[in-house]
Amino acid sequence: MTTYAVTGASGQLGRLVVESLLARGIAATDVVALARTTAKAADLSARGVEVRFGDYDDAASLDSALAGVDRLVLVSASEVGKRVGQHRAVIAAAERAGVSRIVYTSLLGADSTSNPLAPEHVATEEALAASPIPATILRNSWYLENYTGQIGTYTATGTVLGATGGATIAAASRADYAEAAAAAAIQEQAGATYELAGTRFTLAELASTVTSATGTEVGHSDVSVEQLAATFEEVGMDAGTAGFWASVDASIAKGELDTESTALAELIGRPATSLADAVATAAA
Ligand SMILES: NC(=O)c1ccc[n+]([C@@H]2O[C@H](COP(=O)([O-])OP(=O)(O)OC[C@H]3O[C@@H](n4cnc5c(N)ncnc54)[C@H](OP(=O)(O)O)[C@@H]3O)[C@@H](O)[C@H]2O)c1
Repeated sequence: MTTYAVTGASGQLGRLVVESLLARGIAATDVVALARTTAKAADLSARGVEVRFGDYDDAASLDSALAGVDRLVLVSASEVGKRVGQHRAVIAAAERAGVSRIVYTSLLGADSTSNPLAPEHVATEEALAASPIPATILRNSWYLENYTGQIGTYTATGTVLGATGGATIAAASRADYAEAAAAAAIQEQAGATYELAGTRFTLAELASTVTSATGTEVGHSDVSVEQLAATFEEVGMDAGTAGFWASVDASIAKGELDTESTALAELIGRPATSLADAVATAAA
């Protein structure tokens, strides 16, 4: 019997990884859902999954949470700037608990991109490489939901605003990435690094897809990175945060969130979600 555990199970991706493990035939009694806010995972408990408290900032909680776990899906943490220490704490606890495999959700092209989110993923990949626990690295590209979650803004403003210079973005849904994480945890081999992405589109194509799905005319405005940062500040971000997120578009403009990799579809055994389907679902 193999016991699987998933961190961040109270979050959007982690919950879907748990569901994907169950959908792939893993018994609920063989799955442990780690959550900082266990109440948010009550529905998983109701399905027979053991929900355990685990806070990345509380090493003792991680020791209890990982007891008896064989394979761990480490969903990257969410507090940018704190994540390296948090991920190292999970890896150290996994070593103490005798975990035999870690699957980690990294970032597309983590070791070569100028994306400002990359350094924490690189440091985590390095910590995993230094650990005796065999690891599988899933370098996830952008979530489609980063865009489909803004359909209301696009239709209200009539614009998809960005500073990507017409570059192509390869993205996939959280559910696609979650299925990939479950598949990677279940498969026998470890040690691979996968560059994961699905449907490829420009922001102009996103705008026309939103127009078709909603019936509201939405165009695309490509601005400079500085103008994008200024817009972020106008809607309430501090200058540092605005510059950080605007520089993500500078990275996209260099083609750094695009890939022709088909690893995601191969891992999940079906095509990744299309842009049209993701937009139609979110708009409905
Ligand atoms: N590639 C992309 O486009 C993209 C986009 C967004 C996020 N991400 C990455 O993917 C991860 C998962 O995304 P998501 O959408 O599922 O994020 P999410 O819904 O915000 O979930 C984050 C999860 O992390 C948990 N968490 C945060 N701090 C913790 C701590 N100190 N100890 C234990 N758990 C903690 C949260 O627990 P609580 O419920 O207690 O808050 C939550 O379960 C993110 O954390 C981020 O690293 C990637």
